[in-house]
Amino acid sequence: MEFSIKNGNPEKQRSDAVIVGVFESRKLSAAAVAIDLAAEGYITAVLRSGDLEGKLGSSLVLHSVPNVAATRVVLIGLGKEREFKEREYRQAVRASVRALASSAAANVTTYLADIPVKKYDAAWKVAQLVEIAQDSTYRFDATKGKDNKIKDTKGIKKLVISVAKSDVKKAEDGLKQGLALASGISFTKDLGNLAPNYCTPTYLADQAKALGKTHGLQVEVLERADMEKLGMGSFLGVAQGSVEPPKLIVIQHKKGKKNQKPVVLVGKGITFDTGGISLKPGAEMDEMKYDMCGAASVFGTMKAIAEMELPLNVIGIIPTCENMPDGNAIKPGDILTSMSGQTIEVLNTDAEGRLILCDALTYAEKFDPAAVVDIATLTGACVIALGHHASGLFSNKDGLAKELLDAGEAALDRAWQMPLWDDYQSQLDSNFADIANIGGRAGGSITAACFLSRFTKKYDWAHLDIAGTAWKSGKDKGATGRPVPLLTEFLIKRAAK
Ligand code: BES
Ligand code: MN
Ligand code: ZN
Repeated sequence: MEFSIKNGNPEKQRSDAVIVGVFESRKLSAAAVAIDLAAEGYITAVLRSGDLEGKLGSSLVLHSVPNVAATRVVLIGLGKEREFKEREYRQAVRASVRALASSAAANVTTYLADIPVKKYDAAWKVAQLVEIAQDSTYRFDATKGKDNKIKDTKGIKKLVISVAKSDVKKAEDGLKQGLALASGISFTKDLGNLAPNYCTPTYLADQAKALGKTHGLQVEVLERADMEKLGMGSFLGVAQGSVEPPKLIVIQHKKGKKNQKPVVLVGKGITFDTGGISLKPGAEMDEMKYDMCGAASVFGTMKAIAEMELPLNVIGIIPTCENMPDGNAIKPGDILTSMSGQTIEVLNTDAEGRLILCDALTYAEKFDPAAVVDIATLTGACVIALGHHASGLFSNKDGLAKELLDAGEAALDRAWQMPLWDDYQSQLDSNFADIANIGGRAGGSITAACFLSRFTKKYDWAHLDIAGTAWKSGKDKGATGRPVPLLTEFLIKRAAK
């Protein structure tokens, strides 16, 4: 979809459709009033017939509205005016794209971004509109045969976003930001959705190099031998059961001041998690292709901020490998020596995420980071605790936690803070090593975070457990692109400081 910003009268747009909002009960938004006036009360008459009350998310497509240049007028229900806030705005925008999804209307003008949303300006409204329009038209057909490739003949092709004249400049900024974010999100979804025999650690490394080329990012890929030299025994332990070579990918966006300490993002990149010798049950095991969604979110965020040319130093670190059962695989009882020097007793080979992350987190020290945020589909327990709406947030620094929570609120990609109290640490005691890799069933997402905290003492750190938010199961199975909106918003705010 292509987007542009404009200021114009709704009744005069020579588009295939104009989109305007209607509040409950049948209260016209400003743009709808303009159309109704031109059409001499046609809209009010239609509403009086009872076909649209203005219920949030409802829609009605009208053809040949008198004295209106556009072929169609699309009425979108906005709900009660008093209750119209950011969530309602997003829902209305989604409904407007859906209303035209199977229509022949290709050139469309929308007036939804012209409706006031408390606390938010035109830039935010336009950025959100772009993000939602791209999100709701996202399709993945890379691995479909040629007869089943998606034919994009229907739905909106060009969307003109009309705003007040005084808002045009802000709206243009919002458009640029929205496009960059949407492109990052869609990259994250593509990587997540790709089959695990295609999306291998080597593939991810190649994607990083390609991203570096197109976006002017510095990319380095460490191979097994490099990691052996660094003593990454924990990461390499997980990788040793797979024929796919592990990679440690480092992507640098250096657009901040030279002496500015970087924000480091570390993404879990298990391209397939069988559980290893502690093999997972068979049901829905295909979904463990999504175990690299933390890595994918780092890719997407790096792409978004690169397209925004965000003035900040940001480094993405991605440890990536497969977790496979094999003659060479690690076994329960094995003891690994991490890069930090701490020894780890592997009591369950399915708790592999923390084993690859801990070495990447130690590696992050070399960049003297301002803050480190790791993103990982780390625990099933986090899904039990928070469901699919919030990512789990853990941090050793309250200020950093607050920044991330606020960013999640603003981006409507929320996280919820969980405790990281010392009380939980003893669950990781081992009789044979410095630490065990599991802490029992109680508080599973917390003890996983506690494990990571043993490797992040030298800097401000936060951990996002995205096991419940990175993808959807069932009929609409697919990657969500989360938490790219949260991370990007967090970095935008950091750059503005
Ligand atoms: N990748 C999984 C976590 C996961 C499970 C994410 C289900 C989304 C859905 C992770 O590697 C894992 O297997 N964790 C174990 C840890 C346990 C062995 C302590 C889990 O959550 O069961
Ligand atoms: Mn696992
Ligand atoms: Zn895993």
